[in-house]
Amino acid sequence: MTWVVEQKRSWAEWAAMRVLQVGPIPTHLAVIMDGNRRYARQKQRDTLSGHTQGFHKLAEVLSWCRDLGIRHVTAYAFSIENFKRSKSEVDGLLNLAKEKFALILEEQDKLAEHGVCISFLGKLSLLPESIQKMAAQAMLATRHNNQFFLNLAVAYTGSEEITSAVQELAVGVAEDRLKSSDVNEEALEACLYGSGNRDPDLLVRTSGEHRLSDFLLWQSAYSCLFFTKVLWPDFSIWHLFGAVFFYQRQYHTLAAARREALAQRCRTIEERDLEQCRSQHGDKVTHEHLAAQVAARTARLQSFLDHRKKQQLAYLYKLSSLTVMEQENKVEE
Ligand code: FPP
Ligand code: MG
Repeated sequence: MTWVVEQKRSWAEWAAMRVLQVGPIPTHLAVIMDGNRRYARQKQRDTLSGHTQGFHKLAEVLSWCRDLGIRHVTAYAFSIENFKRSKSEVDGLLNLAKEKFALILEEQDKLAEHGVCISFLGKLSLLPESIQKMAAQAMLATRHNNQFFLNLAVAYTGSEEITSAVQELAVGVAEDRLKSSDVNEEALEACLYGSGNRDPDLLVRTSGEHRLSDFLLWQSAYSCLFFTKVLWPDFSIWHLFGAVFFYQRQYHTLAAARREALAQRCRTIEERDLEQCRSQHGDKVTHEHLAAQVAARTARLQSFLDHRKKQQLAYLYKLSSLTVMEQENKVEE
């Protein structure tokens, strides 16, 4: 089993791809890979073999996405809620994760050849240390690849992600790096685990469940949601084509809604800036006051985010267990 599946497409698959490529192709696909256990039960196999099949399907889906032109994929691999499953299933899933994260390191040359950058979204500290270390090593080993971006949501929930972003901003305010009035949608978004990723255009959930299960709550506000009955290990390239076709039919409506929401966000931020300025200068607010206020807020946020990025990189080096001296050299880079 590999992360980089190389399959020959049938002529029918190529033809369908070409037709779809006439329309808009999602840049970012998010997947809730549901139905592994039901698949295992149907085949009278054990639960873990369902999850192993699920991993293999993920690797296959990545190769279809590469061929189709989808360059960002976020997969829900292990929710914080999943820790509540039986000990044997949790242990099995964590061992599978360990094996596959180790495979990322073994396959780093192949991943670099395909430009695959792998990131982890989630509260890594909830995972066993050996897995945290591998995840950090995998992120560091692939972080300069820039053709295809895979985000694995592990020990993740959207509510925890938003809470942790709010906590980071609160610390920023407490340490005087930010003012409380700097906390807005833009600042919160920049503190989410997958900040820097564009929001998913299309979110697919398999197995017939019609809910988000705390996945990408913030980011999926304007995503096209596609639910299909097929169990994840049975998901085929034709199901992906169906999902992309569904996305294409909704594309204009969703794009307009997203544009409107973005414009509304800008207006809200402008209004808050104006209010803030009025509280300082009363009715004598000028364009210069406002421009200075926006510039100062933007500079504070940028410096806070630069600091955060350095801290995160230092944390990754610490997890990956390099020596202190090596860590310092890397953080300086
Ligand atoms: C949901 O199906 C699936 C999971 C909780 C695990 C998903 C993990 C994988 C597909 C393996 C990926 C592995 C790595 C290392 C990235 P379910 O267990 O809820 O099945 P059910 O809905 O039939 O009960
Ligand atoms: Mg399930």
